[in-house]
Amino acid sequence: MKHKIYLIAAADPKNGIGIKGKLPWQLKGDMKFFQETTIKTDNANKRNMVVMGRTTWESIPEKHRPLIGRKNVVLSRNKNLKIEGTDVVNSIKDIIKIAEEDERIENIFVIGGAKVYEQFIKLRELTGIYLTRIQKEFKCDAFFPKIPPKLKPEKLNKGEEEGIKYEFILYKQK
Ligand SMILES: NC(=O)c1ccc[n+]([C@@H]2O[C@H](COP(=O)([O-])OP(=O)(O)OC[C@H]3O[C@@H](n4cnc5c(N)ncnc54)[C@H](OP(=O)(O)O)[C@@H]3O)[C@@H](O)[C@H]2O)c1
Repeated sequence: MKHKIYLIAAADPKNGIGIKGKLPWQLKGDMKFFQETTIKTDNANKRNMVVMGRTTWESIPEKHRPLIGRKNVVLSRNKNLKIEGTDVVNSIKDIIKIAEEDERIENIFVIGGAKVYEQFIKLRELTGIYLTRIQKEFKCDAFFPKIPPKLKPEKLNKGEEEGIKYEFILYKQK
């Protein structure tokens, strides 16, 4: 595959990522990191693709979706689902096809949720994982999958908001 493909997520110490279809926390610094990382391209004529499950799409407030400056792709098994301004696809293969047919796509970011991460983390072509490790436990019902040992962590930065510390980590093959 010609594109780099990353997962990007924020998880608590027990890999919790969500509760009742929502994020368990509100961290402006992490949102900013997510925006910047998923929007930034090396080639100014290109843009990135963000891929998400239907549940994650529904968790984004209407006024913030589709996510601006990125090609939004939503995964659903519902063949009748149509979302304005967004591509709805029924399989992972279709995502790769869309990316390969669109010369303007630079990188692919898989932005969740749990069911979608579980499938993409197994991809041989996975380039890396941007993980914000939140150093406080939250009540969660959705979890990030186990990170393959071949991906090694590199600490990028850290932050703190209202007493909640977090670290930005990039896992990638050395
Ligand atoms: N902390 C973070 O970084 C982060 C990031 C994103 C999301 N989240 C949280 O994660 C939770 C949502 O995760 P989730 O696991 O419940 O849902 P999800 O992964 O967002 O979406 C699952 C849905 O995606 C579709 N889907 C998944 N795999 C597919 C495939 N191979 N082919 C076709 N369609 C496919 C199906 O939609 P249909 O049912 O329509 O068929 C499935 O029900 C929420 O709490 C959210 O806030 C956290």
